[in-house]
Amino acid sequence: IRTALGQRSVVLVGLMGCGKSAIGRRLAYKLVLPFVDADEEIEKAAGKSIEDIFAEHGEPYFREGERKVLARLLRSGPQVLATGGGAFMNDETRAAIAEFGVSVWLKAELALLVRRVGKRGNRPLLKAGDPEAVLQSLMDKRYPVYAEADITVESRDVPHDVIVGEIVESL
Ligand code: S3P
Repeated sequence: IRTALGQRSVVLVGLMGCGKSAIGRRLAYKLVLPFVDADEEIEKAAGKSIEDIFAEHGEPYFREGERKVLARLLRSGPQVLATGGGAFMNDETRAAIAEFGVSVWLKAELALLVRRVGKRGNRPLLKAGDPEAVLQSLMDKRYPVYAEADITVESRDVPHDVIVGEIVESL
């Protein structure tokens, strides 16, 4: 599999709560590649949390930082990269992902996302209103774009290793 990937990274995309970080970590272990969480790298680069970046500078500033950090990460060699839910919506980022990686969309149903993100209240976009309504509207906007990913895997309530196995098979 590593040979088939060559120098490309595996880039996980999908909505908040679909399991990008948890599944990405296990996938990286399996592929013997470094795991990188883009949101964490953005926080490191900014010296503050995503919550604070949104609160102090607003979403457009966050998106610009996200684009730059992803451009740097994607050029830094093969890795498993978990992206924030909005990253794949950026045209430049999508083009960079296509150039340097294989994109994997972890497609999840609304109920699963609601259950997962309801637990942690640290996602700025979900503060805009009822999490279920916000997630539904993000699904409407984003799923047609996520569908451009190279590979789609259904994220569902099974052990993460099952999903990891499905991703590995389709790489
Ligand atoms: C966002 C998702 C978050 C984070 C930010 C914005 C989004 O990442 O980047 O809160 O636009 O969907 P996760 O998908 O890892 O939660």
